[in-house]
Amino acid sequence: MTSSRIATLRWDGRCLQLIDQRVLPMQERYVACARADDVVAAIRDMVVRGAPAIGCAAAYGVALEAIHLARVAPAQLHAELESALERLASSRPTAVNLAWALQRMRERWTALSGHEPKAIAHGLLDEAHAIVEEDIAANRRMGALGAALIADGAQILTHCNAGALATAGHGTALGVIRSAIEAGKTLRVFADETRPFLQGARLTAWELSQDGIDVTLIADVAAGHLISRGEVNVVIVGADRIVANGDTANKIGTYTLAVLARRHGIPFYVAAPVSTIDPALPSGDRIPIEERTPDEVTGFREHRWAPTGVAVRNPAFDVTPAELISAIVTERGVVAPVNELGIRRLLGG
Ligand code: MRU
Repeated sequence: MTSSRIATLRWDGRCLQLIDQRVLPMQERYVACARADDVVAAIRDMVVRGAPAIGCAAAYGVALEAIHLARVAPAQLHAELESALERLASSRPTAVNLAWALQRMRERWTALSGHEPKAIAHGLLDEAHAIVEEDIAANRRMGALGAALIADGAQILTHCNAGALATAGHGTALGVIRSAIEAGKTLRVFADETRPFLQGARLTAWELSQDGIDVTLIADVAAGHLISRGEVNVVIVGADRIVANGDTANKIGTYTLAVLARRHGIPFYVAAPVSTIDPALPSGDRIPIEERTPDEVTGFREHRWAPTGVAVRNPAFDVTPAELISAIVTERGVVAPVNELGIRRLLGG
């Protein structure tokens, strides 16, 4: 029942195929990427989104470019691949999994130095496949560890989409939910719609109902009401970047939920792979927060509802301070309490 049939990304032997997350759930169509710049556009335009999925897609972007260059311009491989890595790195700023995946690709490329361009391309494609496989395995381990924190009968609130669609498969926050159900627990999930891009309404509600999981969609502004009435007893979300002291960037609106959870004494959990941790930044105020187009706030697709020319702010993420997070669930273990020491221990430092 909980084995998701969704393929967020798949390699078809020539191209990277990405499920088009801009048009779900109305349409299920795939976008083919043949070059690094196709992947840059797909990340920037939200065809693929969610921190781990962005990292996986970027890894394939590097491999695709190397395959292309090995065929048509082997002499330029070094300079062109370097430039493709830079364009991929700047496609979105907040999720650190992007930089993490590109660093892994760069290390593999370095290890292949001196090889023929074709061998470099093959090696980079193998690395992209490995990143995908490892992401799914990490989500499964995280799911098993996180499931132990979820009581049978829990009523869970989640925000944005931290599911199979945001990863290579199974999901992080939704992976914990899937694993808890696989372990025999009965759960009810409330999905925040997640204005302005509606990842909760369009993606989480669809993904969970595809798997037959009990999901109820709510407007973001209804969360406080439900929590205050005791209808939600745990909040679980994903993350885009967790820094050295445990401060965590995630989809805009996450911080509000953490404050509500603290006010009402319910646990607030973050589920994320170790690749989401950025120990180089000391605290959350240093995390680059993406500001997206005003069009996402003044309307949706062709529909407009705000006055033309109105001033708009559209920060896509916010930062939840470590002190409001009850635990961070990773594939290596659970960090609780969430603080610098806990993060350092998890990373083996
Ligand atoms: O703007 P998005 O849709 O890429 O934002 C995604 C999120 O904020 C997710 O919660 C986060 O990336 C975790 S995904 C496992």
